[in-house]
Amino acid sequence: MKARIISTGYYLPERILTNKDLEKMVDTTEEWITQRTGILERRIASENEATSDMGSAAGAAALEKAGVSPGDVDTVICATITPDHLFPSTACLIQKKLKLSNAFAYDISAACSGFLYSLASAESLLKSGAAETVLVVAAEKMSSITDWKDRSTCVLFGDGAGAALLKRDDSGRGILSTYMKSDGNMGDLLIVPAGGSRMPASEKTVAGRLHYLRMQGNEVFKVAVRNMLESAQAVAEEAGIHSDEINLVIPHQANLRIIDAIAKRLKLGKDQVYVNLDRTGNTSAASIAISLAEADSQSILKEGDNIILVSFGAGFTWAGVALQW
Ligand code: UT7
Repeated sequence: MKARIISTGYYLPERILTNKDLEKMVDTTEEWITQRTGILERRIASENEATSDMGSAAGAAALEKAGVSPGDVDTVICATITPDHLFPSTACLIQKKLKLSNAFAYDISAACSGFLYSLASAESLLKSGAAETVLVVAAEKMSSITDWKDRSTCVLFGDGAGAALLKRDDSGRGILSTYMKSDGNMGDLLIVPAGGSRMPASEKTVAGRLHYLRMQGNEVFKVAVRNMLESAQAVAEEAGIHSDEINLVIPHQANLRIIDAIAKRLKLGKDQVYVNLDRTGNTSAASIAISLAEADSQSILKEGDNIILVSFGAGFTWAGVALQW
């Protein structure tokens, strides 16, 4: 018996912010952003659009595609680091919006690894029998924690949401293996300093721009490549998938140079690696969820395909999931 993704959905906000637009906002160039990151444009949510709105749109799409009625969902897990509020959880807000009246709901905070941590949690609930139908949503309004005066970070991020609906399955398809790791020692390299109990919001924190994301990008870069590789190899090995049997790797979309480095070490061709960060930027937890749902909607994923999902994010957190589609 395995936990299987029976449908997916995604949502991207309408507004497109291009590298040319960013040239007018900070001291940067279209060329620098394209060459250093691979990002050409990203989507930005409207002012009155919050994380739960995007997450609900993605979740509704997944439910509709599967033909599952809202009352049949018993668990909602939302991966996000940009919740609508400190509490209640964004998962509870999504539950309300989608009328998932028979579900219990909670958030997972694991930054860019949030979707994979959530899939692993969903798998455990399904396999133990504690859940029958789990809606995993990964949604981020990264623009709400972006310092639009900091050129080293504001060119990187975007908004959006993806969702996956999971059920138990005895066909042999589904999640084959999962791998989750964290290292809190390096948390300061990627952080929103204020707004929590350590540094509650005050005039001083606002003046100091401490509610925005701060990242030491080049330090994060090195660890990301190493740990995403480790995750991919660990899940593939546990699932018994040899490198020449991998149909598609969907990596977290942070930087094309990171993705290329992983693809090279795993000896993967271009068509074996899913990339959309040229259009989406880094959407944190939502990144792999959006990618998976896009690949699903484009029929890139074929029944029986071996797929590896791999992530790295703040915390630090990193994870891998191997699945047979
Ligand atoms: O999603 C969670 C995990 N996050 C990641 O995996 C992100 C990992 N890091 C990265 O993707 C890259 O490190 C960045 C894209 C963030 C930065 O690229 P980099 O090649 O590591 O650049 P750098 O930070 O070493 O900066 C190189 C230069 C610096 O100038 P100097 O000191 O060499 O004169 C920066 O000031 O580039 C400068 N720079 C920029 N120049 C133009 C930084 N940002 C910009 C910019 N436009 N937007």
